Amino acid sequence: MAVVKEQDVVPFRNRVREYAVKIKMGLVNQTKLITAASELVRNMLRYANGGKIRIEIVTKGRDNGIRLTFADTGPGISNIDLAMKDGYSTGKSLGLGLPGAKRLVNEFNIQTETGKGTTVTIIKWSNG
Ligand SMILES: Nc1ncnc2c1ncn2[C@@H]1O[C@H](COP(=O)(O)OP(=O)(O)OP(=O)(O)O)[C@@H](O)[C@H]1O
Ligand SMILES: [Mg+2]
Repeated sequence: MAVVKEQDVVPFRNRVREYAVKIKMGLVNQTKLITAASELVRNMLRYANGGKIRIEIVTKGRDNGIRLTFADTGPGISNIDLAMKDGYSTGKSLGLGLPGAKRLVNEFNIQTETGKGTTVTIIKWSNG
């Protein structure tokens, strides 16, 4: 789904919650996933004027999970190691979004190219 303005955030969060409920993810993990997703969607809106998010159910053995892919065509991140550190922000903010999101999920992958954009993929396992 496309997320290009603040008003797209609530419907996106609701969709994520629907998927989480569908795979019977517990409330604590649901909250972690949605908190991480909120940080990533905020970044997307703030630094890249929005982008596209894919929501998928994934399976590993007998566990189900949710994979979210945030893809934007914004400016990219020039120093990803720095951006993943607590307290690093170019937006005069807390700089906890990316490292915080990483801690809340089971798998976190970020690919970025300066001038081309950023894609962040996260997975939260239902029992993870
Ligand atoms: N999608 C993106 N496109 C371009 N730059 C990004 C993107 N997401 C993050 N960044 C860069 O990475 C930095 C760190 O992001 P992070 O979310 O950790 O902190 P923040 O957004 O600055 O502060 P906070 O999330 O705590 O309010 C940002 O300041 C910004 O420079
Ligand atoms: Mg942020």
